Amino acid sequence: MKILIVPDHATAALRTAGTIMRQIAGNPRSVLGLATGGTMEPVYAALVSGVQAGRLDMRSIRTFNLDEYVGLPPEHPQSYRHFMETRLFAPIGLDRDRTALPRGDAADPAEEAARYDHAITAAGGIDLQLLGIGANGHIGFNEPTSSLSSRTRVKTLTRRTMEDNARFFDPHEMVPRYAITVGIGTIMEARSIVLLATGGTKAAAVAAMVEGPVTARVPASILQFHRSVTVICDEAAAAHLQLRDYYETVHPGGRQPDAGEGRL
Ligand code: GLP
Repeated sequence: MKILIVPDHATAALRTAGTIMRQIAGNPRSVLGLATGGTMEPVYAALVSGVQAGRLDMRSIRTFNLDEYVGLPPEHPQSYRHFMETRLFAPIGLDRDRTALPRGDAADPAEEAARYDHAITAAGGIDLQLLGIGANGHIGFNEPTSSLSSRTRVKTLTRRTMEDNARFFDPHEMVPRYAITVGIGTIMEARSIVLLATGGTKAAAVAAMVEGPVTARVPASILQFHRSVTVICDEAAAAHLQLRDYYETVHPGGRQPDAGEGRL
């Protein structure tokens, strides 16, 4: 695992966007695995700026998002499809056919999950998977005790996740209890992974993921078994890391000189 620690959320988001931009520059037809959540908003804003300034061409990529709430149609303002349309797809004018999320309103969510997993395989798999992390260590919506080799399927959300995500819903609205999420086994098949974590609420999860035992209790800890994972976190999210001196020695200031970040 590459651990990059940068001062704040804005810098972490720019570094993450930089990694995505280098991936697309290297292969304009990249298949990207995308994530939602507040952490990702400035990442997508940076990509939109890059496209609008003519520095980045995203027209040939394909995307597969990690998850969607069961029961929400694509046009629902709290659906992850709506999140992606407003933050990224519409602003960069990405052809809808090049984007994919599970259908939250599918008549048979289990069948939809299996179809989605096969669609990822049929597209040749994910080149670069972007991940956030839940305060309880989840990735996608793979909650603690998820099978570490799970495929895309329906998961019941924990009370903690529902509370964390309630801020995006109107007070009178019910936060969905179920989601379709790409499985941990599916995530682990991505050729490379970048996980972005910011803010003190993620500090315990980040430490458990990076330095704790690999356990289904902390789903993100399985990433220790992946050969190409970069964790980008801000100071607050890095606060509980015990081997911080080492990470700083390897990547001073969170820079990756080998990736052309020497001057950032
Ligand atoms: C949701 C998503 C995750 C995301 C997490 C953190 O549960 N399913 O993919 O990583 O929230 O979200 P935030 O970035 O808002 O903290």
